[in-house]
Amino acid sequence: MAKSISSVGVIGAGQMGAGIAQVAAQAGRDAVIFDVAEVALEKAKSGIARRLDRAIEKEQISTADKSAIEGRLSYTTKLADLGGSDFVVEAIVENPEVKEKLFQDLAPHLSKDAILASNTSSISITRLAKASDRPERFIGMHFMNPVPVMELVEIIRGLQTSDETYQVTKELAENMGKKTVLAIDGPGFIVNRILCPMINEAIYLLQEGVQPDDIDQAMMLGTNHPMGPLTLADFVGLDTLLSILELFHRELGEDKYRPCPLLRKYVEAGWYGKKAGKGFYTY
Ligand code: CAA
Ligand code: NAD
Repeated sequence: MAKSISSVGVIGAGQMGAGIAQVAAQAGRDAVIFDVAEVALEKAKSGIARRLDRAIEKEQISTADKSAIEGRLSYTTKLADLGGSDFVVEAIVENPEVKEKLFQDLAPHLSKDAILASNTSSISITRLAKASDRPERFIGMHFMNPVPVMELVEIIRGLQTSDETYQVTKELAENMGKKTVLAIDGPGFIVNRILCPMINEAIYLLQEGVQPDDIDQAMMLGTNHPMGPLTLADFVGLDTLLSILELFHRELGEDKYRPCPLLRKYVEAGWYGKKAGKGFYTY
């Protein structure tokens, strides 16, 4: 039996971090959410309240359950408040240098035995582990968006990740109601290695003149995908998607991973997708 986790820290209160904190609290863990932006914390809090209200409406939880879940969640802009967490999941912007700097700043505050997991979509876990003070207690724990709905968590072991760290992470993910797969520590792991080139190809088709709705309808009606690739790109975030594809192109070194120039233009314009109110569609 691996060590039990009673409190989870989440770094980054964006679309992923808010969802991870919610499922941790629903699984009975205390969850502290840290972000540098106060407004992100407020948005996370109201988003969680809205989703719990929806669960009450659908008679999945009671009003008392909602209060108990909200009572287990706390929000902070101070890294030191993560000191009481047994397990910390990082879900900040998809940029290796920014993540490495965060792990260095975090080190003095973390408890000695705490496990540190990254929700990165594509960056090497071995590389991020090296920037932490605990490579054997560092792991990739890749949730899918939207976290409360999607069943999968990919687990990625870095070169130095210990067996115990893997076991604790797998048990925690299962306890949050997720199924896990073990991926390799290579660009994009499993899901994004397959998904992101497909989305990139859809953006090339758009650049070549196919209408967005025709692209999305084709994949929804033709392959039973729940969302078309351009809608999914907006949902993931075009800034995140571009970072993933740039990393693929750089590290896998093949032209087939070249990010579509139109994607780069949209990111330059600040059209990051749903979270920004505009991407391939307007929200
Ligand atoms: N957060 C939380 N819950 C959400 C949500 C969100 N952002 N969006 C939808 N939901 C919930 C809804 O509340 C609803 O739950 P209830 O039935 O309990 O109310 C349920 O999901 C279904 O929602 P809808 O009926 O409104 O819409 P839908 O049937 O079209 O489903 C969807 C929405 C689940 C998002 C579906 O469109 C879907 O599966 N899309 C594909 C998602 C996907 O591929 N995700 C992986 C992205 S890649 C990734 O995450 C990895 C990476 O690193 C980039
Ligand atoms: P997001 O843009 O919604 O949120 C990122 C949050 O991180 C923001 O609230 C921002 O204020 C905060 N932040 C930025 N720098 C910070 C720092 N130094 N310290 C603390 N907080 C900081 O992004 P997201 O979509 O939630 O993605 C977060 C991570 O999860 C990325 O690594 C991404 O690749 C990964 N991921 C994303 C998806 C997806 O579909 N969007 C799916 C799986 C994994």
